[in-house]
Amino acid sequence: MSIEIVDSVEDKSFDNYVTIKLDDSLYLFHLVYLRDNCTSEKSFHEETNQRLIDVFNDIDLETDLNGTPSVEGNELVVKWHDGHISRFTVKWLLNHAYYPSKNIVKNETIKFPSRISWDKTRFCELKQSKDHFKNDYNHIHDDIVKRNIFHEIYQYGFTFIENVPVSIEATKEVSEIISIIRPTHYDTGVWDFTSDLSKKDTAYTSLAIDMHTDGNYWFETPGLQLFHLLMHDGQGGETRICDVAHVLKLIQEKASKDESWQETLEILTNQPIEFHQSGESENVFFENRYPILQIDENGELIQCRWNTSDRTSMLKNNKFSVNEIYRAMARFNDLINDSSNSVRFPLAPGTILVFDNWRVLHARTAFNGKRRLCGSYLTRDDFIARFRSLVFKREQWLESV
Ligand SMILES: [Fe+2]
Repeated sequence: MSIEIVDSVEDKSFDNYVTIKLDDSLYLFHLVYLRDNCTSEKSFHEETNQRLIDVFNDIDLETDLNGTPSVEGNELVVKWHDGHISRFTVKWLLNHAYYPSKNIVKNETIKFPSRISWDKTRFCELKQSKDHFKNDYNHIHDDIVKRNIFHEIYQYGFTFIENVPVSIEATKEVSEIISIIRPTHYDTGVWDFTSDLSKKDTAYTSLAIDMHTDGNYWFETPGLQLFHLLMHDGQGGETRICDVAHVLKLIQEKASKDESWQETLEILTNQPIEFHQSGESENVFFENRYPILQIDENGELIQCRWNTSDRTSMLKNNKFSVNEIYRAMARFNDLINDSSNSVRFPLAPGTILVFDNWRVLHARTAFNGKRRLCGSYLTRDDFIARFRSLVFKREQWLESV
């Protein structure tokens, strides 16, 4: 592909630019951008893939952004007035073009698989099919099984791992394949508890626990959670889960047809709700900056924070009236507890449930007898980082950053 300089302006520092013609299309690059993103050895570390030049400290942005662009072979070359030379290949320029944006790599190949939301019917269909949620611990180090575990957690928000030895050690091993165990004041590694109130939280009782996400009183909420029932000699203690990505779609659909649901959506996505954990005097947690549903610019769920037990009694200085907030919360509560949106199943020794704590709500029915559950909180960033490495070839990824 040929490269041709069409225009360049060098009279004002930040405004300096060069326009080049590539493949019959024109692209504009500001010289400050080219200097900042110079690909030479002096400016960019090939092994760490980190920028070495610091344009904000290493050069005078008021005077040193003058450079003379030229074309040498198949490269755009900028000779800077301080003597440094930057070279950019056609491929690099096309990958990074921002005006107009080309983004060939990001749009066409660098994409995570899409998330798939589910209700009870879809969950049952998937669970009954032989291809889903049947990851065998005995093959957990095989690439195909590992890849499937990551895909299912990312796409559906949960998965199961079967035939796991009923032990803390095996639970730790599975946890560490998926991500890094997040230490908390409850435990620093795999937690293991019975209903003995050793920590002052309802989880440490035999009471029923309503649909919730964990750690809403933390800024760093756990990304994933992992449950492994070690033993239970009584009745009850079933797990219920619900996909908030699906519930959000239901709310958005209702909001598109009904003004009062539009208000509900507004409140759920904009009204910060306060959560606390004050059971222990030496660790008092509080977070009040986030709405129940954080969504992105496309209306997709980023994170749900919900636990009615941990909600504070404070509803002062709100964007909406208290009755409106209660109506929105009640509607949300109805949808997440609707039996067509949630599923209920017993945990079993030897089967691990892993789920996305930002997306999938969980609940527990009351139980009797002795019940011992272990599990872990896992960091989200490390899960996503490992998933990214499984999905994309390294070179492919590096071309897109
Ligand atoms: Fe929980």
